[in-house]
Amino acid sequence: MTQLRIAIVGCGSFAQSFIRLFQLHPYVDDIVLSDLDADKLADNADRWDVSTTIRSLDDICTDSSIDAVALFTQNWMHAPQAVQALNAGKHVYSAVPTGIDVDEIRALVDTVQRTGLVYMLGETSYYYPGVIYCRRRFRAGDFGRVIYGEAEYIHDFDHGLYDVYRWRGGDAWRSVAGAPPMHYPTHSTSEILSVSGAHMTHVSCQGFVDDHEDGLFEAGVNRWDNSFSNQTGLFRLSDGGSCRINEFRRVGHPGAVRFSLYGTQASYEQHVAGASWLTRDRQATEDLTDALACTGVPVAATEADGMGRVTASDGTHEGMSAQHAVHRLPLSYADLKSGHAGSHAFLVDDFIRCVADNRLPPNHAWAAARYTIPGLIAHESSCSEGQLLQIPDLGDAPSDPVEFEARP
Ligand SMILES: NC(=O)c1ccc[n+]([C@@H]2O[C@H](COP(=O)([O-])OP(=O)(O)OC[C@H]3O[C@@H](n4cnc5c(N)ncnc54)[C@H](O)[C@@H]3O)[C@@H](O)[C@H]2O)c1
Repeated sequence: MTQLRIAIVGCGSFAQSFIRLFQLHPYVDDIVLSDLDADKLADNADRWDVSTTIRSLDDICTDSSIDAVALFTQNWMHAPQAVQALNAGKHVYSAVPTGIDVDEIRALVDTVQRTGLVYMLGETSYYYPGVIYCRRRFRAGDFGRVIYGEAEYIHDFDHGLYDVYRWRGGDAWRSVAGAPPMHYPTHSTSEILSVSGAHMTHVSCQGFVDDHEDGLFEAGVNRWDNSFSNQTGLFRLSDGGSCRINEFRRVGHPGAVRFSLYGTQASYEQHVAGASWLTRDRQATEDLTDALACTGVPVAATEADGMGRVTASDGTHEGMSAQHAVHRLPLSYADLKSGHAGSHAFLVDDFIRCVADNRLPPNHAWAAARYTIPGLIAHESSCSEGQLLQIPDLGDAPSDPVEFEARP
């Protein structure tokens, strides 16, 4: 069986939900922890019982014993770090977003193409139950053609974002906290694009000029001179449809990542209380709330393919919905928490399996570019009074990605 050595780069907040998953994967022999902050690194080595620590990504790149890196560094660092690791011969898993600049994302895609190594974006939305459900129904032809979609990531600053940017930005946190919301679009865009396989070709975007007393979105305070705390983009899709994306960071709302999709044959509508599958026949409306709820999935305790089948001690897999193909997960994942609506375990398993088998993962570099670049161009549009702008497209992946998610 493949035995990989994986370096977790960045032992901050988000990595805490992933270190165990990497550590306990049957194809992983050993993990190495890395963080520029020596105290954080020592604490994490102790907490997770890891014997090897390496201070920086630079040093990891010169260590030939490491097969792959998982980047959990600050959100504005990913693309150049991924390129650095790929050029050093490492496979790369990267937390979102892909990058914050079109040129650095282009360099990333070129580097993946040239090196032939695995790059995967850790997009949590891809494994949200509603997204999995819609992907399956779209592929079965049940939607017909996509007419229109809407997706949103709503996260108000008062819901923890001040703390997030203080720990990510340190003393300079005010220079990064006021980033354009459309620079973090992948939770929304991936929901629509991963279902239909289309990409965004044009955008017109409007920005909401912030006037909050904290001044985070004032010109000169943040490094982008960005004044928008909320942005709404209307995108043209390559399949003839369109979609609306909201990225809101200052809003009277408890928060959400959600989407709806309207097709010529049927529609999926997500709302505060749940979700519905709709057709022209009102009587045939299906309430999907229970089918998508992450309340735990009963699974059989059997072994298969050397990977095992997951079962928790009470016969359910915690945090998963009936849409999640828990049968494909390693036995060692039983009882482990899988955060963000069950997604974490699948993200790690996808990446490790693709590295082991040298296959193209679902959220590969070309898809990651298509999730991210539209947001970067949307921000440009909102700086030009909503001018309709063309979105650069870096093209299709050279082959079809592997598909692990089918239910038994
Ligand atoms: N749903 C999601 O997909 C989701 C949710 C939360 C966070 N995230 C992403 O996770 C990432 C991490 O967020 P966080 O809140 O944990 O950040 P964090 O600031 O807590 O952790 C980042 C760590 O990376 C370290 N680091 C940076 N450069 C390094 C280098 N060259 N070598 C070694 N270590 C380095 C820093 O010292 C820091 O400790 C962000 O990019 C964020 O966008 C995604």
